[in-house]
Amino acid sequence: MIQLHDKQFVPFISAKEIDFAIAKMVSQVEADFADETPIFVGVLNGAFMVVADFVKQYKKSCEVSFIKMASYEGTSSTNEVKQLIGINQDFTGRSVVIIEDIVDTGNTLVELKELFKQQNVKHFKIATLFFKPEAYQKDIKIDYIGIRIPNKFIVGYGLDYDGLGRNLPEVYKLKE
Ligand code: IMP
Ligand code: MG
Repeated sequence: MIQLHDKQFVPFISAKEIDFAIAKMVSQVEADFADETPIFVGVLNGAFMVVADFVKQYKKSCEVSFIKMASYEGTSSTNEVKQLIGINQDFTGRSVVIIEDIVDTGNTLVELKELFKQQNVKHFKIATLFFKPEAYQKDIKIDYIGIRIPNKFIVGYGLDYDGLGRNLPEVYKLKE
């Protein structure tokens, strides 16, 4: 068990399971973009770790970029998603694959879709390592899903509780 601020967390998803899920996503994306160079766009802060491991496994030509959104305070999603680092390159005619650490309510995805609507991209795909189906409130299609999890608050592997826990190589869930 670990303690972050005032809360306790218990082990939930191992580094090995994460690795396996990423490998699965990588092979799907490689197959879909066999003849082109996709741009992977990681959503900071949470996705830094999944992007690093994802691109290390990705053996074909690709580019990597990041944008920064923030919608979480404490352990529940706020409805307002802020854009902290925006689009700073030309995506015209390119295949964009968004890489998220986790999709919860889907508010961030709505903002991302809106953001890329004006970009004239060739393909716009969404990949997420973790997905909470019970919390998801939107109908945007998620193209690549690593691991489906129940509607529980998790930390580790890039995900934080008020700033802490991002460095953990495996995932923990809030102790009930
Ligand atoms: P959404 O906009 O509600 O889908 O939330 C997406 C963002 O909220 C993610 O990119 C995370 O940064 C954060 N988030 C959602 N669920 C969790 C969680 O269980 N632990 C930590 N952060 C989370
Ligand atoms: Mg995120």
